[in-house]
Amino acid sequence: MRIGLLHPGQMGVSIGLSLLASDHEVGWVSEGRSADSRNRAKQFEAFAVLDDMAVWADGIISICPPDAAIAQAQAVYSTAFDGLYVDANAIASSSAKKISEIFGAGAYVDGGVIGPPALSAGTTRLYLSGQHAVRVAGWFTQGFLQAIALPASDHANSMVAASSLKMAYAAHSKGSSALLLAVNALAANSGVSEALKAEWDISQPGLNQISQATAKATSPKAWRFAGEMLEISETFKAQGLSGDFHQGAADIFASMANLKDQPSADLDQVISEILGSECPGG
Ligand SMILES: NC(=O)c1ccc[n+]([C@@H]2O[C@H](COP(=O)([O-])OP(=O)(O)OC[C@H]3O[C@@H](n4cnc5c(N)ncnc54)[C@H](OP(=O)(O)O)[C@@H]3O)[C@@H](O)[C@H]2O)c1
Repeated sequence: MRIGLLHPGQMGVSIGLSLLASDHEVGWVSEGRSADSRNRAKQFEAFAVLDDMAVWADGIISICPPDAAIAQAQAVYSTAFDGLYVDANAIASSSAKKISEIFGAGAYVDGGVIGPPALSAGTTRLYLSGQHAVRVAGWFTQGFLQAIALPASDHANSMVAASSLKMAYAAHSKGSSALLLAVNALAANSGVSEALKAEWDISQPGLNQISQATAKATSPKAWRFAGEMLEISETFKAQGLSGDFHQGAADIFASMANLKDQPSADLDQVISEILGSECPGG
């Protein structure tokens, strides 16, 4: 098959490599993309503009910043593309529903990726939902990415179950990271950092080390996590639950945005960013 990738970012390129390993042709669109994307996409077939790739592709996978997902879908819909459109972004189930309405249930498959870019076996799963989920999972016969079609159900969310699953997963994994960093900032600003560390060593062994590791793991990507937390907040609200927790998590990650694409920061640097000043305890 001929499958278009919009776009070959860190995750997108790893999806493309699994498609190549599965004997498909993979295309991408160079217009508007950075040198980084161009370098990552060297092994794929380049198209100058979206219209050209749209008439070539049997399927398109959208894997871009979550806040661009709906505009990306609208751009594809305005072309002559008539294959299956897969949105694999970390977006609220309400956003996924909007995209399914653009293409119609017969031409849309919802996706959600859990795990890092798929560069080794067993790390990364692409969950899929919708009436053609099994068909899209069948695109991935080789390579490191594991594609899993979720069973259809009579739940109102069945069509966008993959996005709902991704939101639920990241609500815990990234939400608890934001909580832990916020707690460290609170303790630092209240002058009780050392006392909290000592108490954690007694009653929550490992939490000090987890705090350090969380600062390092999240600091370069926090700017992107902020948008994802807002998608999660919307997902909670759509189910009649409070979205405030993840609105708060978005605020914490947004306050770390200056650390974007820098070498991993340590906990004191992250606390300084969150507090907006030098860390009092640092
Ligand atoms: N990375 C992970 O570990 C991970 C894990 C699970 C899920 N995901 C999801 O995968 C998706 C992509 O993440 P990523 O890590 O691959 O991000 P990334 O490395 O930042 O790549 C994003 C790609 O989208 C392009 N892009 C930038 N702005 C755009 C816009 N306004 N419209 C359309 N495309 C745009 C970028 O192109 P240029 O930079 O060339 O402009 C780049 O090729 C996100 O939805 C993310 O939540 C990522």
